[in-house]
Amino acid sequence: MTAPTTGAVDAYTAAQAAQDDAVGHATRAFRVWRGADGAGAFHDYVADVDEGMVVLDAIQQIQASHANDLAVRWNCKAGKCGSCSAEINGKPKLMCMTRMDELPADEPVTVEPMRAFPHVRDLVTDVSWNFRVKPRIQPFTPRAPDAPDGTWRIAQEDVERVQEFRKCIECFLCQDVCHVLRDHQLHDEFVGPRYLVYVAALEMHPLDIADRTTELKDQFGLGYCNITKCCTTVCPEHITITDNAIIPLKERVVDRHYDPLRALVRLVRGPPKHDSRDTPGSKR
Ligand code: SF4
Ligand code: SF4
Ligand code: FES
Repeated sequence: MTAPTTGAVDAYTAAQAAQDDAVGHATRAFRVWRGADGAGAFHDYVADVDEGMVVLDAIQQIQASHANDLAVRWNCKAGKCGSCSAEINGKPKLMCMTRMDELPADEPVTVEPMRAFPHVRDLVTDVSWNFRVKPRIQPFTPRAPDAPDGTWRIAQEDVERVQEFRKCIECFLCQDVCHVLRDHQLHDEFVGPRYLVYVAALEMHPLDIADRTTELKDQFGLGYCNITKCCTTVCPEHITITDNAIIPLKERVVDRHYDPLRALVRLVRGPPKHDSRDTPGSKR
């Protein structure tokens, strides 16, 4: 590998295809963000690319050959730990699950840290804010067992409703893409889509009896979400964050805090735990 100086990458990219054809392997140009504490610049590198490689492979190759001090976070290399989140060609993605052959071959691949969180160094950001959000959410609060032997009876449909939310790997790509956090930096007022998914998993759990709608309305900033669906688009676990989690939560908040008829019914009968409109895919 060679490391062309800044500014030479475009010329290199244009020339490399013919050269790659001649020698039977591919090289790709990269622009990787280097710097600390929010300050920095793109540095240009070139990596050898073989069939099946992902962006993380190339970053590790660059780290091994050209930039031993390049800071990059990863653990599983299997799309399950959520550590290698970055912005690849400007889009929030997992580096270990982004194949080189799905990126345009005629331009450098840019790799940057997530922007919604404080920058630490190179590709690493401080995502610890996320871990401080979770304790603010009322934990799982199961109802009393249905049978004397301490077991519950649950409809399969109710079990399946929350399964999707449990796939979250806490990569925080949805948090990164959400304009409320990314552009407006409202971290004190909005918990972000990842934690709305977490609340939805608890609120729709067939055994849970806690009511988190007051917190959703007053502390978690649910009203800031304007259903742009960007979070759903970037989720590597394909969780339908907006339609299946956020919209049903918005409906619950409206029903419980702004619908006088339902408020009267609740006063008489007690709070309903499950809402027939929580059906996955509901867009109501
Ligand atoms: S749908 Fe809501 S939570 Fe998701 S990215 Fe858009 S504003 Fe953020
Ligand atoms: S909901 Fe999806 S994008 Fe958001 S943290 Fe979980 S896995 Fe990542
Ligand atoms: S290294 Fe674990 S998700 Fe990418």
